[in-house]
Amino acid sequence: MLAFFINVNVNLHELLPSPSPCCYYAEMSKSDLTAAEAIRHRRSIKSFKPDPIPEPVLNELIGLMREAPSSWNFQPTRVVVIRSQEQKEALAAAAWGQKQILEAPVTFVFAVSIRGWEKHMDSILKTGVDKGAWPQKFADWIRASAPGFQDGLGEKQREYAMKDAIIMATTLVIAAESKGLGTCYMNGWDEKKVMEIIGLQQDKKYGIALVLPLGYAAQPAKNPGRLATDSFVFTDKIPSAKI
Ligand SMILES: Cc1cc2nc3c(=O)[nH]c(=O)nc-3n(C[C@H](O)[C@H](O)[C@H](O)COP(=O)(O)O)c2cc1C
Repeated sequence: MLAFFINVNVNLHELLPSPSPCCYYAEMSKSDLTAAEAIRHRRSIKSFKPDPIPEPVLNELIGLMREAPSSWNFQPTRVVVIRSQEQKEALAAAAWGQKQILEAPVTFVFAVSIRGWEKHMDSILKTGVDKGAWPQKFADWIRASAPGFQDGLGEKQREYAMKDAIIMATTLVIAAESKGLGTCYMNGWDEKKVMEIIGLQQDKKYGIALVLPLGYAAQPAKNPGRLATDSFVFTDKIPSAKI
């Protein structure tokens, strides 16, 4: 994979425009937590109030989640928002009865379309060029290089798509926390069943990355603690005794 980049005889910095003086910021209301406050305040919420999430808040969160980056900007994540009682019950059953899915007003299912880029690459590249973010030469370079890179990943294409989906889920988690909403990352579910529930056929081109209930916490959760920083952050190399 590294060889792929080394063999590409191109200087990416020359292809990209210098940063524009104009930047875009999502609107922030005075009551929103800052990113640092949201990160510190976030806990996994296992019990939710039945209160619905106002539609404008839900839409704003979806808009913020949409800002998440992805490899090549190929955006393989497909998100299904579970809202009906019937779908909640089916999803909770696929998650071995975990009740946060039943209690939360909505649950996000983060799925991936591993080869979804094949359908969207041309329009993604055109958008990048039209928005002035990418020179045509850079878009042409992606069109020429990305398919070979993706194919060269083989089975790892799934892992790469999952990374993008998890980054999107984390963007949503921090945005939600900043607006006073709680979430719970969830790995505990049967992938085949979840795929069936959201209407995906069983195919290696698709996968489920995460299930994420979203709502107002029934009560605050306590921080269960983390490893000491010197147990997991190292300079330059990992000492073998620490791995
Ligand atoms: C990828 C991932 C999957 C998780 N899956 C579940 C799950 O299926 N059910 C659950 O109750 N908690 C789940 N958790 C929550 C963790 O148990 C929790 O994050 C951890 O104990 C730390 O607590 P905190 O999130 O409050 O800091 C998951 C967390 C992560 C990051």
